[in-house]
Amino acid sequence: MTVRVPAKVNLQLAVGPAGDDGYHPLVTVFHAVSLNDEVTVRPATKMALAVTGEDAAAVPTDRSNLAWRAASALAKAAGVRGADAAVRIEISKRIPVAAGLAGGSADAAAALVACNELWQAGLSQRELAEIAAALGSDVPFSLMGGTAVGRGRGEQLTPALAAGSYHWALAFGQSGLSTAEVYKTSDRLRAARAASGAQPPAEPSLSTELMTALRSGDPARVGPLLTNDLQPAALSLRPDLRRTLAAGREHGALGAIVSGSGPTCAFLARDAAHARDLAVLLTGAGVCRAAARASGPVPGAMVMRDGRRS
Ligand code: C5P
Repeated sequence: MTVRVPAKVNLQLAVGPAGDDGYHPLVTVFHAVSLNDEVTVRPATKMALAVTGEDAAAVPTDRSNLAWRAASALAKAAGVRGADAAVRIEISKRIPVAAGLAGGSADAAAALVACNELWQAGLSQRELAEIAAALGSDVPFSLMGGTAVGRGRGEQLTPALAAGSYHWALAFGQSGLSTAEVYKTSDRLRAARAASGAQPPAEPSLSTELMTALRSGDPARVGPLLTNDLQPAALSLRPDLRRTLAAGREHGALGAIVSGSGPTCAFLARDAAHARDLAVLLTGAGVCRAAARASGPVPGAMVMRDGRRS
């Protein structure tokens, strides 16, 4: 059973002050893009996990892998026990690890959908989303795909009306960034700013301008409205990302932003050809490890039959 699952970028990421549980209340606009991992599950005599492709060596292959935890959580919820719950999980990665593209969350969402199908467990989308939210903040969106507003930790989702297709160049960093570290750095920067008398950040709220622009389907309107409250923290941890963002802007990107907690930079292009040109130019300029083009929105985790999405 093979499931294909997309990466995400955040078109808006508004971050409030940390709550008592250490998590930050968010308002975000998720957007699924056509950079996919594929996750295959097969019945096995004991749990096992193997990873091939992009950054494979950086991915744990034991129960600390979110996809493994997803399979276990689904088995529990569906009442699948003992030997019946053992699967071999094979992850074919194209989404870089710790990149701000929700690659680990994507694999977990794919494992949920794949095991639900393999075991004919019959859990509803809603039940899967509940298990997903317990695994990680971005996992429910990886199930849903498309373009959606996320609140809470990002797990409370409402589909967003977005017209047309958006073409992106994604510039991958030399190494990953820890999401927790980026949030911590963001808190430190905000505390320092508050200590020097700056206004505390407002409660996170949805950008109505961005939502209107998305409904228009015009990337030239959307580009200037992309925002990410975690960007200053990502830039302070990786100062050379400024050069990456500047290079994309110089080459006509309509918007240039760090994706999620970074270090991937996402550039909104005029069209597919411009996205391809941007990816080539960014790679050639030596401001990233590699670059790829992608388009969105695309659907979330989906079973593939005969190599095609069902
Ligand atoms: O939920 P997830 O495991 O993906 O989050 C990874 C880390 O990112 C958390 O441990 C937390 O430090 C931080 N985080 C946060 N506020 C959020 C989401 C994540 O502080 N809304």
